[in-house]
Amino acid sequence: MKIMAANSNLPLARAIAGYLELPLVDAAVRRFADEEIFVEIHENVRGQDMFVVQSTSYPANDNLMELLICIDALRRASAKRITAVVPYLGYARQDRKPGPRTPISAKLVANLITEAGADRVLAVDLHAGQIQGFFDIPTDNLYAAPVMAADIHARYAMRDLTVVSPDVGGVVRARSLAKRLDNAPLAIVDKRRDRPGESEVMNIIGEVRDRHCVLIDDIIDSGGTLCNAAQALMDAGAASVAAYITHGVLSGGAVARVKASALKELVITDSIRATEDAIGSECIRILTIAPLVGEAMRRIADESSVSSLFD
Ligand code: R5P
Repeated sequence: MKIMAANSNLPLARAIAGYLELPLVDAAVRRFADEEIFVEIHENVRGQDMFVVQSTSYPANDNLMELLICIDALRRASAKRITAVVPYLGYARQDRKPGPRTPISAKLVANLITEAGADRVLAVDLHAGQIQGFFDIPTDNLYAAPVMAADIHARYAMRDLTVVSPDVGGVVRARSLAKRLDNAPLAIVDKRRDRPGESEVMNIIGEVRDRHCVLIDDIIDSGGTLCNAAQALMDAGAASVAAYITHGVLSGGAVARVKASALKELVITDSIRATEDAIGSECIRILTIAPLVGEAMRRIADESSVSSLFD
């Protein structure tokens, strides 16, 4: 196997290569003067089992295009098999038509990656499990849950802990983490607006008084969902609120919003390269998923079980 990296998350690609004790393929992914992307692979990859690592995070369109062009370069260089390793898949939230005459952009992105020449996809915590089915090629969806559960186990006394989903849509994800945490109790923040024009009311389903609450979600983008949920939990008498989120999108003023919020701590993974702001923030901690992704890549190359990573 050989690993190639595009530019969106070089620290993670290097950490994965370090875990696998392999060098990154000698390649240049650069821009022409007019910002067109140009890829040049400087070593032979003919007949190789190739893994190209690229999160399609901000700027999503540029990073997606880099991924597609890397795949095309590998295909034309006669790689035997190409796996697109996409720790964060941009556009995944556009996985259905929210209204008439709207696109399903996640499906379009899946088509583009497949058409470019990928033989397989490896992703982490896809926004919805069904996105696996948008790809007509084998797609492994890894879960950051074991990495998060190990960190939570090391920091909390399980008897005081409640796992919380910040919205009704995230209950399955939160329940699966709660199971890994000695079947910790589960609570749900149910956000609803009874009548149009009225402000949203946050109802808490489940017992949170005097509990240390851990909010679980796949994405923090503006931070609105999490910060509002954290406030609602504190108002309901929680002892503390922390959040474990796989993908730290952290757009706009999200880092400042988290700092000013009721959250004791935000824990994200390195699926997206963290900004200086996030790295410098004392309330944000970053867990690495490099060993998890690296091990899954090794197993794909060896044709052994990936799902048993989560047993
Ligand atoms: C939504 O379905 C996702 O799981 C996240 O809850 C959402 O993307 C978070 O967005 P924001 O941080 O902007 O509230």
